[in-house]
Amino acid sequence: MCGIIGIVSLNESKKLAEMTVSALKRLEYRGYDSVGVASLSASGLEVRKAKGKVEEVVYQKKVEDMKGYVFLGHTRWATHGPPTDYNAHPHIDCSGNIAVVHNGTIKNYKELREELESLGHKFKSETDTEVIPHLIEEFMKRGMEPFQAFKSAIKSIDGSYAVLAIINGERRIFFAKRDNPLVIGLGEGQNYIASDIPAFLPYTRRVVIIKDGEIGFITPETVYIEDQEGNVVNVKERVRVIDWDIETATKEGYPHFMIKEIHESPKAVKDTIEGFISEIDLIKEVADEIKNANRIIVIGAGTSYHAGLYFSLQLQRLGYTSIPIIASEYYNLKAKKGDIALAISQSGETIDVLQGIRKMKNEGAKIISLTNVIESAIARESDYKLYMKAGPEIGVAATKTFTTQLASLLFLTEVLQGGNINKLEKLHQEIRDTITKVEGITKRIGEKLSKKANIYYLGRGLSLPLAMEGALKIKEIAYVHAEAYPAGESKHGPISLVEKGFPVVIINDGELTDLLQNNLMEMKARGAEIYTVSVNKKMKDSDIEIYLESEFPAIVISPVIQLIAYYASVSKGYDPDKPRNLAKTVTVE
Ligand code: F6R
Repeated sequence: MCGIIGIVSLNESKKLAEMTVSALKRLEYRGYDSVGVASLSASGLEVRKAKGKVEEVVYQKKVEDMKGYVFLGHTRWATHGPPTDYNAHPHIDCSGNIAVVHNGTIKNYKELREELESLGHKFKSETDTEVIPHLIEEFMKRGMEPFQAFKSAIKSIDGSYAVLAIINGERRIFFAKRDNPLVIGLGEGQNYIASDIPAFLPYTRRVVIIKDGEIGFITPETVYIEDQEGNVVNVKERVRVIDWDIETATKEGYPHFMIKEIHESPKAVKDTIEGFISEIDLIKEVADEIKNANRIIVIGAGTSYHAGLYFSLQLQRLGYTSIPIIASEYYNLKAKKGDIALAISQSGETIDVLQGIRKMKNEGAKIISLTNVIESAIARESDYKLYMKAGPEIGVAATKTFTTQLASLLFLTEVLQGGNINKLEKLHQEIRDTITKVEGITKRIGEKLSKKANIYYLGRGLSLPLAMEGALKIKEIAYVHAEAYPAGESKHGPISLVEKGFPVVIINDGELTDLLQNNLMEMKARGAEIYTVSVNKKMKDSDIEIYLESEFPAIVISPVIQLIAYYASVSKGYDPDKPRNLAKTVTVE
């Protein structure tokens, strides 16, 4: 995910630079590892960009001093190539007359880059995006006029994109959209185009939402759009007037980032699986390292530890010696040469994980990391870097990143077993269907649980880490004390707390249902209120059961436990995005 903005105006002014910067600040939630701005003025094309957050780059590069009548801005969330000054957008062609910003990924960029290099094009970055300005340049060299050249460039790329391009001498911004958002804002003598409405909401409320496959350009006073089939779109019919405030618009109509991000899980998983497929050689290398290791130590904190525990249990079942460790307890384990340590961290910055891998590396272990941030601290210190592609997560509680971690680890498990990775391509659809199906019932359960003082979450086997995650989630955002237990272990102590009305949530992934049923009956006999989340095999006698079907139970259970926690939090009037005492990235020991 990245944020893009374009402004085209009748007048050349410094004011446009300030507007571009303020739009980038409002887009920063879409990515924040590097920033860049391009302007077109009477003296030509100018680009200023660097690694860093909006404020840092704007200050360092004096972006607000730029002048022009056309501006492009970009805030990046790295997917191809680490966050560096060179990899920051906008990207330009060889002549320095064409600049492009892009949100998305281009699958065939390697082939295109090779072809362009063979034609003499010189590339400066490691990004997929850079092929676009070079393609436009190449088509223009062959005699095409600018819009034709832009269309031909877009036709050549395969992938997802919201792209903006500007060309020296043209008072137009060319755009194209597939799978990533793009919206036009209609001003007075000035038009805007951006990843989302808040980017230009202080300047206009009249918008045109671009549809997939559409392509066109904006000038200061006109908008031209062609649909997928090349028909000219009647823009007037598509103008809408927005009555949201900026805050609502950033959340795309959702009341909180957390619920928005749960709904983004299908896309996050789809992008991640596609990323793993395109990096299959690396994944196979990692799988070989795991196969040949003496021990596989899996390390993570909080939610990431739960994903790690899930994977570790799977490895144990496959006959590997795998040790899950909670990152802050890393000092208990001595690694040896021949060991592999797998570090799981969405931020890639958690200090406990970092300290843990440093110690294990010193002791001779090889490090594999799974993070959501390209070239994050943990990734940089790893021998093998695997990346999820969940995009930025703003809500403090991990949601789409947890589901994406599970999907990544399931992919790795399939590769380890020589299984069929293609079946993972349908995961995103299962998550989407699950969310649609359970939204109402999770709200009902969440509301009921929010009124309790204590909750048990029980699971067995591979559903135990999910029970642990369910308990953590409701604890951290709804401030209800929740404890997860292996269901069989509950009768060795915890059950003594159970009395009439005590809530017990049982996570049943369908594997050990009969045993879980015994535990359910034990709880029920003491008056417990029972909620079950079951996949593939139903349970009996629960007060409320959510029943789902899937070949990958963890993936569908994940959004369910998150939704329950979310609704518990909001029904108590809390802000689930900012739970008290917690930070998104924990960089203190
Ligand atoms: C809980 C949560 C935390 C993080 C933990 C590790 O919802 O988000 O428990 O999982 O702080 O963070 P990362 O994954 O960034 O290492």
